[in-house]
Amino acid sequence: MKRRVAILISGRGSNMAALIEAARPADFPAEIVVVISNRADAGGLERARAAGIPAVTIESKPFGKDRAAFEAALQAALDQHRVELICLGGFMRLFTAEFVQRWYGRMLNIHPSLLPSFPGLDPQGQALRAGVKISGATVHFVIPETDAGPIVMQGAVAVADGDTAETLAARILGVEHRIYPEALRLLAGGRARLDGDICRTEGSAEAGGVLISPPVT
Ligand code: GAR
Repeated sequence: MKRRVAILISGRGSNMAALIEAARPADFPAEIVVVISNRADAGGLERARAAGIPAVTIESKPFGKDRAAFEAALQAALDQHRVELICLGGFMRLFTAEFVQRWYGRMLNIHPSLLPSFPGLDPQGQALRAGVKISGATVHFVIPETDAGPIVMQGAVAVADGDTAETLAARILGVEHRIYPEALRLLAGGRARLDGDICRTEGSAEAGGVLISPPVT
């Protein structure tokens, strides 16, 4: 049985599109059953509908600081679609600890840095200002702290001297689109499990490969 997944977005939804595409094959262990945006102007809504996925808006703005009331509306939509797993894809609204607890171990987020480095806003700019030579993207389980939680998968890119936040973001985004579907595949297929604060993954013992930056000759 495929696990039923909701993708929550606030913007263009390129990670959403990558997840929808990856979930098409019959042997993928999850199906995207609904896309939910907290903003009516999110470009991803149209993209989702074009892909044949139900897309709904639950505006968070009218709820103001009443996060619990917004989450009650969100939970009702998740219940209606019998959602089992949530993927956040550029969802820019913080949750209450209660909502996070309810979905603990069943809600993933993606962030464009190698966490725990550079959580929060402008992670690519933060990486450039820190002068790191390698950055990347992280898929993690959601905990109450922003851009933190047990790490499911990471992908790395080399940082070049000439990079701007935009060029680095574009390269990292390419990695995001590769790792998010694979992380969902692991979770939905029961091959990623939580061991305290650590996520253990089947097959990780065979991990290989190194990335050295700048390259040495
Ligand atoms: C992605 O780069 C994602 O990693 C980032 O927002 C972007 C959404 O793009 N998320 C965060 O920064 C979370 N703190 P998308 O709408 O095209 O997927």
